[in-house]
Amino acid sequence: MENLGKYRRTFYCGEFGQAAADAPVVAVGWVNRVRRLGQLVFVTLRDHTGLVQIALDEAANPALFAKAEGLKSEYVVAVAGKIALRREKDINPDMATGKIEIIAEELAILSNSALPPFQIGDDSVSEALRLKHRYLDLRRDALQYNLRLRHSVTMATRNFLSNRGFIEVETPILTNSAPEGARDYLVPSRAQPGKFYALPQSPQVLKQILMVSSIDKYFQIAKCLRDEDLRADRQPEFTQIDIEQAFIDQDDVLALTEDLIIEIFKNAAGIDLPKPFPRMSHAEAMSRFGSDKPDTRFGLELVDISGIVAGSEFAVFENALAAGGSVRGINAAGCATLSRKQIDSLVEHVKTYKAKGLAWIQLLGGEVKTTISKFFSPEKLAEIVAAFDAKDGDLILICADENTTVFDALGHLRLEIARRQDLIPEGLYHPLWILEFPLLIWDAEDGRYYANHHPFTAPRDEDLHLLDADPAAARSKQHDLVINGYEAGGGSIRIHREDVQQKMFEVLSYSKEEIYANFSHLMEAFRYGAPPHGGIALGLDRLVMLMAKTANIRDVIAFPKQQDGSCPLTGAPNTVFPQQLDELKIKLLV
Ligand code: AMO
Ligand code: AMP
Repeated sequence: MENLGKYRRTFYCGEFGQAAADAPVVAVGWVNRVRRLGQLVFVTLRDHTGLVQIALDEAANPALFAKAEGLKSEYVVAVAGKIALRREKDINPDMATGKIEIIAEELAILSNSALPPFQIGDDSVSEALRLKHRYLDLRRDALQYNLRLRHSVTMATRNFLSNRGFIEVETPILTNSAPEGARDYLVPSRAQPGKFYALPQSPQVLKQILMVSSIDKYFQIAKCLRDEDLRADRQPEFTQIDIEQAFIDQDDVLALTEDLIIEIFKNAAGIDLPKPFPRMSHAEAMSRFGSDKPDTRFGLELVDISGIVAGSEFAVFENALAAGGSVRGINAAGCATLSRKQIDSLVEHVKTYKAKGLAWIQLLGGEVKTTISKFFSPEKLAEIVAAFDAKDGDLILICADENTTVFDALGHLRLEIARRQDLIPEGLYHPLWILEFPLLIWDAEDGRYYANHHPFTAPRDEDLHLLDADPAAARSKQHDLVINGYEAGGGSIRIHREDVQQKMFEVLSYSKEEIYANFSHLMEAFRYGAPPHGGIALGLDRLVMLMAKTANIRDVIAFPKQQDGSCPLTGAPNTVFPQQLDELKIKLLV
């Protein structure tokens, strides 16, 4: 193996097309492939910009030829030589540098490579293996693109916010609990045995305290840590573009965020977004799409037929209505030709969202086929069909249950049908604000309210009195940014009065001890002049996912965790030495 010595690259591999014929050049990179064709050997060299072909002729330099022939995948080499234009028939139109090759004159092997566990770019490799050897996986074009895209997004964010007068303030990773609805990760204190830091679920409380400190316009590209079940768009450790501002109202937050999002999408990915973003109330989102993060790129909207079907002999519908639920459905336009098996699999799909089943009406070739013919007259069926605006060729799918289940089931059903029927147009972006969220959610099992967002979100002024009279009816000053069915961000105007915050904690049934343990610093700060304030946090990983057109959050994170929260590369989480536990005064029960 040799040192870099005099070799200094003249171009990145993918950029050698810019070099003039006969120009002396140096290429460095990883060996992608070695091919021998008679007297010639071709080596493709790779770096993050692409590939370039190196050619060696046995007759010209037998020793160099032998050295090149011995190269293996992923060796790191430096090649000095001359640019040659390829003959017309040898041009490779699939390669950015396909019109040229480098005729090697010198070759230095800078590093060997063991036989890689998989070929770079082989899409059939399991994700677990790719994550274990992430250094190899990251050599792939797609991941290189994603990480560079992510960098552009953070740069655009920092520039935009800095130009608007925001300053980035770091908040600690070792801190105390700030609830965002997930479990905390805890870190034991050695200096104070028996005590723990919590890793921040978000900088929420501290960014509010910065408002009390007259920081005025805060932002941070902030790491957030939440011990919760992972999903395709959820990691235990993720990044927020966290923003807070004093003396503003909700419209100010929405306007700033729209400008920021438009700038990021344009600047980092060349995507134009419409302005202003449409706004929708939480109630409308639920009734039309069955979701508070609706994907509005396609139709399949929900229709409430409770009024039409009420009073029938069909126990499933009647029981749902009697229990305060509803009967709703969607018209899967053009889906009447789905087979029985395909419909059954849609029924199975909604069952994963707790729905007990689906009734359906199939309109095919002038005939009406339905699972509910026994209970409804042809006239009633015609009325139902009309409510869905359904025509021949359509399939109506109906769910009866309590409202939360109906919404959840049909909300997911419309996504599933859209996926299966390929109804979502490529390259379309539908940003959307969801507003007027309920402030609280009643948890029947626990017999208490939980904050829909977090305990610091302010009730709407006109609903403040409801905190006593009818807490469940109070709406909040929360705003969620939804893009293509993803919750891309969430925030609110905050409570800035100590008495209202205290009231909110009471409604949430927090004990005095809990308030003291977790929020006394916020309550104390509020006693010394807290300005009205509000903000938002955007999920950076999710924004990059949207721009990179991937549904897998791990594709936009250099070293992500897998489903069980472990990192196959580092082996985290890990056992530790007994001595480390002794120092922390910790005894394991496992
Ligand atoms: P919230 O909890 O809604 O609000 O989070 C804000 C945004 O962060 C992203 N996000 C996640 N991304 C990946 N993996 C996760 N586990 C994950 N959890 C959340 C989402 C979400 O919209 N402090 C408040 C913000 C505020 O009120 O200003 C907060 O954290 O895109
Ligand atoms: P069953 O009584 O389970 O045989 O169901 C009779 C019909 O009602 C079948 O077509 C079921 O798919 C449908 N069905 C069952 N549960 C529901 C529900 N919760 N909502 C709508 N239709 C349902």
